[in-house]
Amino acid sequence: MEKINGLIVTAALIFLFTAGCGSRADIVFVEGKEVTGSSAMVVSAHPQASRIGAEILAMGGNAVDAAIATEFALAVCYPAAGNIGGGGFMLIRFNDGNYDALDYREKAPYGAFRDLYLDEDGEVVRGLSTTTHLSSGVPGTVDGMINAHKKYGTLPFSDLIQPAIDLASNGFIVERGQAASLNSAARAFNARNSNPVPFVKQGGWSEGDTLRQPDLARTLIRIRDKGREGFYGGKTADLIVEEMSRGNGIITHDDLALYRSVWREPVSGIYRERYRVTSMSPPSSGGVALLQLLKKSEDAGLYGMEFLSVEAIHMMVEAERRVYADRAKYLGDPDFTDVPVEGLLNRDYLRERMESFDPQRATPSDMVSHGFPPGIESEETTHYSIVDNYGNAVAATTTLNGGYGSNIVVDRAGFILNNEMDDFAIKPGHPNMFGLIGGEANAIEPGKRMLSSMTPVIVERDGELYLVAGTPGGSTIITTVYQIVVNMTDFGLTLGEAVAAPRFHHQWLPDQISYERGNPLPSDAVERLGQKGHSFSGRGSIGRVDAIVVSADGDIKGVADPRGDNRASGY
Ligand code: DON
Repeated sequence: MEKINGLIVTAALIFLFTAGCGSRADIVFVEGKEVTGSSAMVVSAHPQASRIGAEILAMGGNAVDAAIATEFALAVCYPAAGNIGGGGFMLIRFNDGNYDALDYREKAPYGAFRDLYLDEDGEVVRGLSTTTHLSSGVPGTVDGMINAHKKYGTLPFSDLIQPAIDLASNGFIVERGQAASLNSAARAFNARNSNPVPFVKQGGWSEGDTLRQPDLARTLIRIRDKGREGFYGGKTADLIVEEMSRGNGIITHDDLALYRSVWREPVSGIYRERYRVTSMSPPSSGGVALLQLLKKSEDAGLYGMEFLSVEAIHMMVEAERRVYADRAKYLGDPDFTDVPVEGLLNRDYLRERMESFDPQRATPSDMVSHGFPPGIESEETTHYSIVDNYGNAVAATTTLNGGYGSNIVVDRAGFILNNEMDDFAIKPGHPNMFGLIGGEANAIEPGKRMLSSMTPVIVERDGELYLVAGTPGGSTIITTVYQIVVNMTDFGLTLGEAVAAPRFHHQWLPDQISYERGNPLPSDAVERLGQKGHSFSGRGSIGRVDAIVVSADGDIKGVADPRGDNRASGY
């Protein structure tokens, strides 16, 4: 390891470009967990995907071009969550201060219905919404990338997908954490596929092995050559439908042909006068929940409290409890249900919601229900952050839902199908795989998008691009992003410190504070929070943040969460 500008850099590599439009022969890439560049940066879950994105930026591509290349690369070298068989959200901030947001979330197949996962007695059939062909929503990623390219891409689409094709056919290098993750998924892959899949290696994977995916390379070539039709029609569509028929799945040719990603207006709010926080609107609950949390924090004076103090943790957790109760009631696909976004972000409403907050005591969750916002009558994922040398930024979170989704690989097409249907409220009050519950607003309907917690965020400070961030983590995504933002804006931590800091999470139900066993909260704080009536539940790590901070003097710092194999790559 060497130190550059006081920052730890695991590798600083020099690349010489000899071909490609706008390429520069003198670009020095900085790569590592925490690196500073002067021009551009990509931070993602896999070193090879970050590099591919950074090379596109160095060729003169913009942040959206790099996002498309990174997304396809992750679909190859980060199969736990990178995907073409899943979906996601992309938030973009242009250098003129305008924003756009792309929803390429999966949709329920048209054959889906409300009680799809219940037996004759109305009971949930275990595993049906998570481990079977029925668990998959209609994939959105390929349409999303084509849509993003059409609107904002500057380099040819084929140049953006080609690095992923090469990575699939030549193979990618397995990282250390990834080897363990793939090995623990082997049993599920073997159980749920009739033919051998490339993700399982006899004797197990080790760091440094090469994983090749020739079927996936052929699918990506069809997408390169035929665009949308290369995935939603022709051979790939036939292979998806054949795969469905092997396991009682219901995705049809029509479902595929009718899938469209949509541009949506992101949600945005001002935090403590200086910061504009912008994130994803429904069908993600992330942006609305994050803004609710920040407004409550501002009112409660979080910025005057001490980092990880009893007072601060108590306030944050009590806000989270109330916000997740609202999420369960009101949030769903805006194309199917009226989500009262304005009401949920109304200042008076949020103050009213915190009236029951007692600085001395935890409010038991069974005494907290959703509120009544004005205008109302009566859940492995991966995130990447990009800043280009033109000042544009992309924050994108993409997922198959569980790690490796349904573990079902489309035979001869080489990609893994999502199990996103479990993000619907499959039965009112029944917790999904992240313990989240929901009701009518997020009930299954044909063609509807399942509610998400994904929270890609872009923060401006004094009108200038400041922070680009996001994380996986199911229900904990929202609270992790919340902690990153307040760790920096309120507690004055550097991005590296903010990302490394211990994380905690409360989601209303279950009524407990989750914390990271390996990165615990200060013990005196835990004891005093216990005295206030909070209970605790230890777990593995929470989230894997990929973030970029732009300093006032224009330095671009990428930080990759120490919790994963994630890596920053920039110049
Ligand atoms: O959209 C959502 O909220 C979930 N499908 C995200 C899943 C996730 O983050 C899993 N990663 N740990």
